Amino acid sequence: MSSQQTSPTGCERRFDIEELFFSTTDKYGVIVSGNDVFRRIAAYDSVDELIGKPHNIIRHPDMPRAVFYALWQYLQSGKSIAAYVKNLAKDGCYYWVLAFVMPSPCGYISVRLKPSTEILKTVEKLYKQMLAIEQEARIPAERAPKMADSFDFLEKQIKTLGFASYDEFMHMAMTSEASARFKAVSSKQLSCLETSLLHSQDLGLRDDLSRFLRLNTELDQLLAKAETFIANIGQLSEKSRYLERLAQDVHLLSLNAIISSHRLADAGRSLAVITHSLAQISSRSNEVISELTRNLHALISGLRETGYHISAAKLQAEMSAIFLSESIEAHIKNSSEPDMVKMRSDLLQLEVSFEASCRDLGQSVKRVSLPLRQLSRHISDLESVLKTLSNAHVLGKIEVAHIKDSVHFQTVFAEVNSHVTIAKREVTEFQDAIRAVSQAVPLFERFNASQSTDHIPIAA
Ligand SMILES: Cc1cc2nc3c(=O)[nH]c(=O)nc-3n(C[C@H](O)[C@H](O)[C@H](O)COP(=O)(O)O)c2cc1C
Repeated sequence: MSSQQTSPTGCERRFDIEELFFSTTDKYGVIVSGNDVFRRIAAYDSVDELIGKPHNIIRHPDMPRAVFYALWQYLQSGKSIAAYVKNLAKDGCYYWVLAFVMPSPCGYISVRLKPSTEILKTVEKLYKQMLAIEQEARIPAERAPKMADSFDFLEKQIKTLGFASYDEFMHMAMTSEASARFKAVSSKQLSCLETSLLHSQDLGLRDDLSRFLRLNTELDQLLAKAETFIANIGQLSEKSRYLERLAQDVHLLSLNAIISSHRLADAGRSLAVITHSLAQISSRSNEVISELTRNLHALISGLRETGYHISAAKLQAEMSAIFLSESIEAHIKNSSEPDMVKMRSDLLQLEVSFEASCRDLGQSVKRVSLPLRQLSRHISDLESVLKTLSNAHVLGKIEVAHIKDSVHFQTVFAEVNSHVTIAKREVTEFQDAIRAVSQAVPLFERFNASQSTDHIPIAA
């Protein structure tokens, strides 16, 4: 049950893309803290007014229940989640956010950014349909099954968009939104944060602020890399589909070669060695290509996940810097002593969740490294398959030159040749893409290694 009475006015609360806001809750979703941007956008007079209230105080009636059901499922199983949420401010305005929510030692923490990609339009449409499904419930007993239908609908639609699961979808959404935001955020914001740095000494916050600013810059670079890979995922998937077709084509060629050699009766017997060798190449290429595509899918999913965790870590590092800056600016404006104990405790929540994202990032980088190593091996295997295929083509051409009426066979070998030529080009492009990912992985690993040694304990 929502604990607020606000009616939506349909008017949108505008806010800048630079702005980030957060709130923390206890295990039951009761608000424990938040920053001033959160208060302002939600139109409350003070953060204190929000503290102690259940988080559904800003729930918008347009939001399908199934989204929150998923949110709590993820959180209670110890996982983070990213979700688009339409919220209701105290004055009835609405505002959309992409919320990144994760468990924290005292409960949960949510960091939010302004969505700025086309994904939101798709999500809005989806949520409307989900809500319509949920509203089919006429009696309370029908609510749970209708919510399950609404969630099934979401998962099905996500699959039609090309994602295997909600996880894959949120990984992509988070990286896309974080990258779009990163490109749009002006240098104005950075200079604002750096001005705060000048005043940070007074409050003893200089080390913390400069650390988060540095982390933010490092993560910007990692995010840019992750985004390039994610933008190339379509191309990699296309390559994987091409290779699957190649395996089928080589199989068909080997069958055609057998049929053609039978047509040649006695003369065709001399081609037995070649048809046999084509059959062997076909089974080998099938083996190599299915292993390769399996690892490629693992790589793609690892890359998406890595992008998600980089975006999360970046969001949290930047949120921490913004929060520190907000506190410093408030101190300058009011020239009163801020509540340092409260501020430190909120900062600690952000810091702990940042570290958890870094650990998750470390795990996802490992999930990228393994298929990457395997893929390099599969590429050399594929190259040697292509070499054998090319040799079979040369041998075949020599053999059929002595045989009369061997047009069919000649066609088969002409096809072998054209497949080899195209496949070699595809493999080179594929190799380049894999090499680019391999070169970036040490960057991700180095960042991770530096995080395990670069911890500044925040005294509460
Ligand atoms: C850390 C955290 C942040 C949350 N943020 C929001 C939010 O911004 N908007 C919202 O409607 N619900 C948010 N929720 C979910 C609410 O707790 C609640 O499940 C949701 O509003 C649905 O309320 P209902 O069960 O009364 O329908 C958040 C929960 C947690 C744990």
